[in-house]
Amino acid sequence: MKDKIQEKFQTLFGEGGEVFASAGRINLIGEHTDYNGGYVFPGAIDKGIMAKIKLNGEKKVRAFSLDYDEYCEFGLNEEDKPEQAWARYIFGVCRETIKRGGKVEGFDTVFAGDVPLGAGLSSSAALESTFAYALNSLFNNNIDKFELARIGQSTEHNYCGVMCGIMDQFASIFGKAGSLIRLNCKTMEYKYFPFDPKGYKLVLIDSCVKHELASSAYNKRRASCENAAAAIRKNHPDVEFLSDAKRLWLEEVRDEIPEEDFLRAEYVIGEVQRVLDVCDALERGDYETVGEMMYQTHFGMSRLYEVSCEELDFLNKLARRCDVTGSRVMGGGFGGCTINLVKEELYDAFIKTAVEEFTAKFGHAPKVYDVVISDGARKVE
Ligand code: GLA
Repeated sequence: MKDKIQEKFQTLFGEGGEVFASAGRINLIGEHTDYNGGYVFPGAIDKGIMAKIKLNGEKKVRAFSLDYDEYCEFGLNEEDKPEQAWARYIFGVCRETIKRGGKVEGFDTVFAGDVPLGAGLSSSAALESTFAYALNSLFNNNIDKFELARIGQSTEHNYCGVMCGIMDQFASIFGKAGSLIRLNCKTMEYKYFPFDPKGYKLVLIDSCVKHELASSAYNKRRASCENAAAAIRKNHPDVEFLSDAKRLWLEEVRDEIPEEDFLRAEYVIGEVQRVLDVCDALERGDYETVGEMMYQTHFGMSRLYEVSCEELDFLNKLARRCDVTGSRVMGGGFGGCTINLVKEELYDAFIKTAVEEFTAKFGHAPKVYDVVISDGARKVE
């Protein structure tokens, strides 16, 4: 990837420039909890985005995406928003940096990535984090790492139409090789957990299904949670986020909110507790409990939060049948991957069965990615 970037950069923009990179992410558990003020448990992975960047002394960004084989040029004012979706992420990061008082002037860039698109591995956060980190370094803005993550998140909110939480950008900026990170999304306190489950492997199975309208369905889930939290707050004024609420308090407002909002909130309250249970289990080295919680999350995401789909439910059931320790849909949902915690001795048989049976049923093969927990945003050279 680096060689291709260098070559194209040389052709388009000549000598000079610096190379930056950032990563996609996995999440062990804690899904749709981030925007509810709960915990998440992500880690950066060995798939990401890499960009070569050189300041050009103008007020213009000239960008080339190797993956789309497309060029785009845009200015740095609000009205200069580019047409291409991929360029909007870069434009958004520039704008959000400027809004925070950072300096951003024109630059030339070529970038590429190897995060599979639509797999729920946050290719967009990898792109945002690469540029947020790079611009901060190139213009000596001294913006702290939390704010760099927020620059990516605000880019999604203000320029891409997704009202996401902070998990993906946080993981992409703070990721560290070999460690998962437990983040409290309300206080932003975090802790690195070295993750080396002896005798087990983490593997992703990508259904290669991507549902249209995923972002509006995502925003709708978020609105349901906020609605439920507002109803609970009337009785319990200290409830700032849904994660502050007890199951019983949700029960009290059952008749006041739509059934759909109730189910969404029921899932979230359960999931917040599951992350804590998983942390305890990890400290005891009790992977059976970790796995069981993953299955419970899948059930909740499928039946209560309704962000799974036929293909992912199929992979989840199949995992159970193959004695996989834990399995669930990962990320926002509406397609993408399952994450699976599997004993080493069962790994080969599981993958073989999953690929064969999935292909026979859906007419296309799933993709398999072994998880390697890696560093997040960084300067490469
Ligand atoms: C997407 C969002 C995250 C998070 C997850 C679900 O990846 O970008 O903020 O809400 O979905 O856990």
